[in-house]
Amino acid sequence: MNFLSDRLGFGADYNPEQWSPEVWRDDIRLMREAGVTIVTLGVFSWATVEPEPGRHDFGWLDEVMDLLGAAGIDVSLATGTASPPSWLSRRHPETLPVNRDGVRLSPGSRQHYCPSSPVYREAAVSLAVQMAKRYGAHPALKLWHVGNEYGCHVQECYCDVSAGDFRDWLRERYGDLDALNAAWSTTFWSQRVTDWADVLPPRTAPTLRNPAQELDWRRFSSDALLACYRAERAVLQELTPDVPVTTNIMGMWEPVADYASWAADFDIVALDIYPEPKDPAAHIDAAFFHDQMRSLGGGRPYMMMETATSAISYRPPNRPKRTGLNRLWSHQAVARGADAVMYFQWRASAGGAEKFHSAVVSHGGSDNRIFREAAALGAELATLSDVAGGRVPAEVAVVHDYANWWALELDARPGELRIPERVRAHYAPLWHANVTVDVVPPEADLSAYKLVVVPNLYLCTDAAADGLRRHVEGGGHLLMSFFSGIADECDRIRLGGYPGAFRELLGLRVEEFWPLSDGERAGLSSGGSADLWADHIVPEGAEVLAAYTGGPLAGLPAVTRHAYGAGTATYLGTRPDEQAMRDLVADTLRLAGVAPVVAGLPAGVEAVRRGSRLFLLNHNDHPVHAAGADLAPLDVAVLPLRHDPAKGA
Ligand code: GAL
Ligand code: ZN
Repeated sequence: MNFLSDRLGFGADYNPEQWSPEVWRDDIRLMREAGVTIVTLGVFSWATVEPEPGRHDFGWLDEVMDLLGAAGIDVSLATGTASPPSWLSRRHPETLPVNRDGVRLSPGSRQHYCPSSPVYREAAVSLAVQMAKRYGAHPALKLWHVGNEYGCHVQECYCDVSAGDFRDWLRERYGDLDALNAAWSTTFWSQRVTDWADVLPPRTAPTLRNPAQELDWRRFSSDALLACYRAERAVLQELTPDVPVTTNIMGMWEPVADYASWAADFDIVALDIYPEPKDPAAHIDAAFFHDQMRSLGGGRPYMMMETATSAISYRPPNRPKRTGLNRLWSHQAVARGADAVMYFQWRASAGGAEKFHSAVVSHGGSDNRIFREAAALGAELATLSDVAGGRVPAEVAVVHDYANWWALELDARPGELRIPERVRAHYAPLWHANVTVDVVPPEADLSAYKLVVVPNLYLCTDAAADGLRRHVEGGGHLLMSFFSGIADECDRIRLGGYPGAFRELLGLRVEEFWPLSDGERAGLSSGGSADLWADHIVPEGAEVLAAYTGGPLAGLPAVTRHAYGAGTATYLGTRPDEQAMRDLVADTLRLAGVAPVVAGLPAGVEAVRRGSRLFLLNHNDHPVHAAGADLAPLDVAVLPLRHDPAKGA
């Protein structure tokens, strides 16, 4: 489904319920001035649309839909179910979510519902039905926007209803209690359960929780949120089969839900992303999330459903985006596969919790830098319609997995490893090398990739281990980091020598883990140094690329490479410094025969190929000359691809 393919979308969340009908007219005029093509309408309008249970007030929304339609502006219409109205929690306090400590959360903010609550789900579905009946045939309707950012605030609920659902989910997964006991290793600490009634959510307990229980809880909670989305999607598909359905997911370093398992339910992937203007490396993280969204949709275009025109309200001090930064970061999304650039929100709210969040129209109106820059961008995107629908080629994949993320960050691991830092450490050198990557789950089909990069895949299924092995055997290349292949999907150690899942593939055995203390560094014979972690590696066929020259494992191998089948498997037993990591990645790219999008670009210039265009993004505060183009600070060039960019700048 690629409903935006004839042009790039440009727009914002539109919340007209906060404004009077006179303001709506002004909005439409300004939207046309800014080149808006699409808005996401009514995300938080449940209380306005359904002021009392079963009584709907659609008059205002009819008018807004008609105004937008008449102006030629597409509508991504929200079902409005993200924030229940006050009457729901008054009449059904059991719909309110309960946290790990047993505290029932109160209304007065948003997303205050238990994902397993049948009452919430029924009320949400019935609102979605009303919306579909009312607007299903409206010419402005182009997309359904279900809920909003599932799991943003409430990822899980520990109430008794959720506990019951959790038990059903576990019965489905394991069949009987013996299998559950085995999966959860319950002989440890006398945790064996003999009655389903004893199976509980991982509520606050005296000390460390059963890690397999924690993991299944995260899986279950992700599925519970997905079930909410699916329940609404099902009725929308039935009533309006031609209208695509999506919900917006979050590009941020929080494993709120297993998005890879949600992807098949999106007709188009929609990303919300708020790179931090104060963070000098924000654009590298953003590039990662854009690559992830494109990959979730199997390479199809996605939408950047939300970003900020300028300051973000919940991260004080609210630093505005300096001139050019909104344009640069918006182009980055388009370069990496987005077919729409949209903001939260159209008009800055006069009241409420997020009134200091930037918008397209500010508190002072439209006579200002933010509006002018947005309008200029709208006009510019209108000239790039040939980009819409274009594909972004990638020869390298970075493996990223939510179960691994959850598992790796549980307590009582040998060292403090954090997935955001670990993934960044592998992604950034590829970004600096201007090599475009896909971001894939470990069980993905890897046949299209010359090189697969695997950051710290502690938890690993048999299917993933087999897929990675076959990738290398068939001539692919692999770069894998320490503490991979250690546990199965129930967080049980793969016995018989680390790393159980990959010993044969890597041609080595890890005898012990030697996490390094804060500030402790070990030199590397290949140059540079390492910290954080040191594997005691015993080669079993792998060649040694670098050894430790100091630290607890001085003289022992730190980096190895193993020829396996027709490919190679490079293994990193530690965390090298940034330059050493870049060198190793460059070496592995050469070995795999992967060329950059454009070779020899100045540092801080990002090159991405999309369809028949080459995007050059200058993230520097100084001008550069790159690939024949002159780029001012924070400037963008979108060039036709007239030569083979691999041949040089
Ligand atoms: C998103 C959310 C929006 C708005 C925005 C700015 O997470 O979907 O409704 O809150 O952040 O904070
Ligand atoms: Zn609950």
